[in-house]
Amino acid sequence: MPLPYNQRTCYCGQVGPRLIGQSVVLVGWVAVRRDHGGMVFIDLRDREGVVQLKFNPESDPRAHEAAGRLRTEFCIAVRGEVARRPAEMVNPSLSSGEVEVNVHEIDILSACETPKFEIGETPIANEELRLKYRYLDLRRPPMQRALITRHRITKLMRDYFDEHGFVEIETPFLTKSTPEGARDFLVPSRIHPGQFYALPQSPQLFKQLLMMSGFDRYVQIVRCFRDEDARGDRQPEFTQLDLEMSFIQPQDVMNIVEGLLARIMKLVHNVDVPTPFPRMSYQQAMLDYGIDRPDTRYDLRIRDVSDVVRKTDFKVFRTPLEAGGVCRAIRVPGGAEMSQREIEKDLTEFVKGSGAGGLPYLKVGQASPPDVKFQTGVAKFFSPELTRELERALQLQPGDAVFFAADTEDNVCRYLSRLREEIARRRGLIPEGQWNFLWVVDFPMFLFNPEDKRHYAVHHPFTAPLDEDVHWLEKDPTRCRAKAYDVVLNGIELGGGSVRIHRTEVQQQVFRILNMSEAEQQARFGFLLDALRHGPPPHGGIALGLDRLVMLMIGADNIREAIAFPKVTKTFICPLTEAPSPVSQEQLDELSLRIALPQKK
Ligand code: AMO
Ligand code: AMP
Repeated sequence: MPLPYNQRTCYCGQVGPRLIGQSVVLVGWVAVRRDHGGMVFIDLRDREGVVQLKFNPESDPRAHEAAGRLRTEFCIAVRGEVARRPAEMVNPSLSSGEVEVNVHEIDILSACETPKFEIGETPIANEELRLKYRYLDLRRPPMQRALITRHRITKLMRDYFDEHGFVEIETPFLTKSTPEGARDFLVPSRIHPGQFYALPQSPQLFKQLLMMSGFDRYVQIVRCFRDEDARGDRQPEFTQLDLEMSFIQPQDVMNIVEGLLARIMKLVHNVDVPTPFPRMSYQQAMLDYGIDRPDTRYDLRIRDVSDVVRKTDFKVFRTPLEAGGVCRAIRVPGGAEMSQREIEKDLTEFVKGSGAGGLPYLKVGQASPPDVKFQTGVAKFFSPELTRELERALQLQPGDAVFFAADTEDNVCRYLSRLREEIARRRGLIPEGQWNFLWVVDFPMFLFNPEDKRHYAVHHPFTAPLDEDVHWLEKDPTRCRAKAYDVVLNGIELGGGSVRIHRTEVQQQVFRILNMSEAEQQARFGFLLDALRHGPPPHGGIALGLDRLVMLMIGADNIREAIAFPKVTKTFICPLTEAPSPVSQEQLDELSLRIALPQKK
């Protein structure tokens, strides 16, 4: 009689001392097999953990014989009796480490080919192979824990929003373009040859329409699709926790999000994070950290030293300043101990990787304060007087190192924000187990691109201007700040949102600033402009990247560890299914599509 595998008594990881003497039915996968002078030991694994099985040739010859045929990752069912392990055999690293199961019956449910990699705690380095055999990779305990944590987080989210009066509503995937700064994935229509749906980059416009319908509080855990350029840790499809609220100010959206994140932190890490989270203006963030998502777990703040270094003879400083650029610096306490090799080779190569021409630096000598003396690097360009000025500007101490960047403001921010992070990493300044949540607020509405001489929306074109800045829309749009806010955790942008425009005139004015003709406005967003003429409530919301949130909660360093079936970064290939792939001529014909591949160079 086969073993009744549907009558499992508990998961392997749940077998413990309280079951001693009891009969159990367990199912799972063979993690390890050991033969010890006749006895066979198996570590049996399921999603809750591992338990040791013991096969005795004397008492259970048939089960023992079958155990001899087991190989790793075979799927089996067993019946046996839980017993205490001999004291010297106790394994404190297992939750079931005090016990073992003396197996009386075994059923081999299926065999397994030799797995392509070990199903252990540490992943293999070859990520493509991991993704090709993702079903095996997902058997690994850290992946099981990750996806179970993800489930617990989304469950908490649904409970939380239900408690706070939010309604979960699904919005379409086959829709029209929603601009969020990436390219659209297009879906050709068979019924309407030559016409395309766009997969949504976010539910942005639908959630605004739902506010206009009076739903008041909407939430959705929703897939978004963006044909992103290969930069950073991004996926072409990813999940947002998306929400929208009516009759609110930014404060109200922030409160809801803070309450949620605090609860998630309690659930996952049993940590009480203080609310409200600190706030920082975009302008301050760019000045002090060179980036709109600062990691505030360590200091190393950036300081503007343009006015001091302008007086030196060093052309690396002066040329960009004369061209309207800036010079900023990072003071690294104790940084003088960094070797010449580390600075002039490693760090210099690092900043050159971001496009900088080099890395001007100096070290502050060990003279007794207040007399500091600059050494090495660009020290020779600082007269005694300029030395004192720089010392005052940066509050320098002996033993410090100072790193400079002089270029356009954008470039300086980019070089120094990355350098700041690199130095913090190298010098071990990033504390473990610290959770720095931060709101960055008052983003600019628009950025002006001098190359094509056009304004681009910093958030998206539906974001409302700050009341006190509305007048800038006419005069100088780049000076207009938005009612927009990003939530940042440890230097990673978790989410972004805004209060929306709810007046047709303002929406059209913003479209005009973005260079959109009346005809284009109608063609792309006519339905929104119409809806705005039908009694829209003031409204706003936010979307959090769920994959990034889970990644941070499980302590992973990329979002693929938080996603069951991700695509390879940058190439966006799925090695498991081999998507994307060509389709048959028949399918193309049905869709009235013809392929015109670019000429190979
Ligand atoms: P935004 O474009 O800022 O806002 O997106 C919100 C959050 O989604 C996550 N995210 C991504 N995660 C993984 N891969 C990607 N390719 C990717 N792109 C974005 C980030 C980001 O902070 N509709 C607005 C929100 C609103 O205004 O309410 C929006 O989509 O964590
Ligand atoms: P030099 O005078 O060429 O020895 O350079 C002095 C310092 O300035 C070195 O630390 C260089 O890394 C740095 N440096 C040189 N050229 C540039 C540049 N174009 N941009 C930024 N830094 C530079």
